[in-house]
Amino acid sequence: MANAYKTEDAALATEAGEKPRISARAETMQDSPIRKLAAAAEARKKNGIKVYHLNIGQPDLPTAPIVFETIQKLQLTTIAYAPSNGLPAALAAWKKYYDHIGIELDEKEIIITTGGSEAIVFAMCAICDAGDEILVFEPFYTNYNGFASLANVTLRAISLSIENGFHLPPAEEIARHITPRTKGILICNPGNPTGTIYSRSEMQKLVDIVKEHNLFLLSDEVYREFAYEGELCSVMDFPEIRQQAILLDSSSKRFNVCGARIGVLASHNPEIVRSAFRFGMARLSVASIEQLALVPLLNSPKTYTQPIAEEFRHRRDTVYEGLKSIPGVTFYKPEGAFYIVIGLPVKDAEHFSKWLIEEFEYNKETVLLAPAQGFYATPGKGTNEVRLAFMLKIEDLQKSLAILKAALETYNKKF
Ligand SMILES: Cc1ncc(COP(=O)(O)O)c(C=O)c1O
Repeated sequence: MANAYKTEDAALATEAGEKPRISARAETMQDSPIRKLAAAAEARKKNGIKVYHLNIGQPDLPTAPIVFETIQKLQLTTIAYAPSNGLPAALAAWKKYYDHIGIELDEKEIIITTGGSEAIVFAMCAICDAGDEILVFEPFYTNYNGFASLANVTLRAISLSIENGFHLPPAEEIARHITPRTKGILICNPGNPTGTIYSRSEMQKLVDIVKEHNLFLLSDEVYREFAYEGELCSVMDFPEIRQQAILLDSSSKRFNVCGARIGVLASHNPEIVRSAFRFGMARLSVASIEQLALVPLLNSPKTYTQPIAEEFRHRRDTVYEGLKSIPGVTFYKPEGAFYIVIGLPVKDAEHFSKWLIEEFEYNKETVLLAPAQGFYATPGKGTNEVRLAFMLKIEDLQKSLAILKAALETYNKKF
């Protein structure tokens, strides 16, 4: 039957034995730079080498027991679809969470999404037509590339520099990248992969730009609670861009519940919320048990987030102090999140990272790093940089840095 609908060309191609082609989007979709060297790490482990993972942002701390207790207590007869914007109890809990942290949102302004990831895709789809552009600051969270590809959006990257801890350039430099197709600016605050927190005046600069050029400001605040230095401003703190601000959020990191897949898109702009709701209707709903499981955490967020953030502050301090003892490394003090991008005294950090995981050992141990090139859109940027994620306990972070130091010495004698 299907053949009856084929065009003559397609029928000829099939007869000639050609396969149907996948899309250009699928073909050009990047592999995760974070996972690129994972196979080599597994091979090393099989050979008895201990590998310290500094490459990935999967929190290692336990999820609060109350999450599992809540699931056990649920009296469900059917795991039914939830409403597309979220279960009422979960929406009420998210509103309460925002009340606790001083962000005023109505339940009707919140859409619960499958992780922050889906919130980002929904926001891109809500503001952009195919081929429209969103400005990002590089290095940026590498999955923004994948989301942009799904949404048919072009990311235009504005380069930041390790020398000033990846803070924003002057307003004119940002505005220079705006074209008639630019629909918004996407920021990550606190930043992955940089750990940078934008100051109030940097946020004000962005607010002024989006106001002047009539753009949306999309703010990915999934690391909000991991703020160790300075003041963290939300995009929701600026009433003058009430209709232009889109908050992208997630429970994953702050509550150590990455696998629950619960995030949020929130906006005071009813058109944005309605669009996200309609995209949500197309995928029907978000996992209902997980939405409910997180309610106790959202009702009393600081109880759960504060100990987690404290632990990560210690880890950040450990890494920052540890890096001081490695000659030739360029770094800064990350103000938030649990990442840092550092410059290594090597030409090609990807080559170094590959050698480190495939060949080097120090007392039968080695380290897996994420080369930072994959976090840049501009070719040639970040070639000597790597991202470190602080997902290990303090002693292991100290050991990892000792291994890194020894590895750099050996590498620079060898190559
Ligand atoms: C900056 C940033 N945004 C969004 C996400 C997506 O998180 P999730 O989909 O687990 O909520 C991540 C995950 O690592 C992230 O680092």
